[in-house]
Amino acid sequence: MKGKLFGISVGPGDPDLLTLKAKQILDECDIIAYPVKTAGEGSVALNIIKPNVDLSNKEVREYVFSMNPDYTVREQGWKKAYDDIASALESGKDIAMITLGDLSIFSTYMRIDRMIKSRGFETELVPGVPSFCHGASLAGIPLTMGEEALVVIPFNTDRSEALENALDNYENIVVMKAFKSVDRIADMVVSKGRDISCITVMSNIGMDDEYIGPVIRGREYGYFTTLLIKKEMKE
Ligand SMILES: C[S@@+](CC[C@H](N)C(=O)[O-])C[C@H]1O[C@@H](n2cnc3c(N)ncnc32)[C@H](O)[C@@H]1O
Repeated sequence: MKGKLFGISVGPGDPDLLTLKAKQILDECDIIAYPVKTAGEGSVALNIIKPNVDLSNKEVREYVFSMNPDYTVREQGWKKAYDDIASALESGKDIAMITLGDLSIFSTYMRIDRMIKSRGFETELVPGVPSFCHGASLAGIPLTMGEEALVVIPFNTDRSEALENALDNYENIVVMKAFKSVDRIADMVVSKGRDISCITVMSNIGMDDEYIGPVIRGREYGYFTTLLIKKEMKE
């Protein structure tokens, strides 16, 4: 019988936010795999599962999904990974590929799932806690209330119109990939006549050096930084 590919969401950082379903599949599968952009860079997702999953008798595989600007180089690398995954599945092994936060939110994993499914293998997606949900609970702030809408956007330094549009039209905005642009985003919020206190920085949620609080101008934030911008706080 062919093996099955599981996409396992491991939550944003706190190992205790791994779901029971994720743990059960990780305990039972033959191979635990994780995607990287560069060989040997390590995996935050792997560190998250370590306290709760015994890896001593598991095969752990790294798959490189390069983001090389040359699309041909990228495609060749990805094909190598897909071929290797397919060959393990063909030999009857179950693979659990782990991914940070929830796999439906800005995750390379969804492409892997689609490609492996198109090769005729069975796959299953296991949801988890997205970074901004854990961040909002640590901040004690609702993401939405009543009739309010919530929009989730990635901050792209070359295309800030998405944030302009969100600030004009939505009560609640989650800005992902904000790490290099926190001061710039704060300037945009202030230019709309809003107080900077409507921004909550959620950085390294569930990790060492976690910071949940107001914008500190001039501070450097790491890649794992998400902002929650609210129009108004309702009780
Ligand atoms: C490629 S996306 C992955 C999102 C992830 N799938 C999720 O559900 O949160 C990477 C972005 O997610 C956010 N992120 C992921 N983990 C985080 C964490 N522990 N703390 C703060 N932000 C995080 C950051 O905005 C980061 O730039």
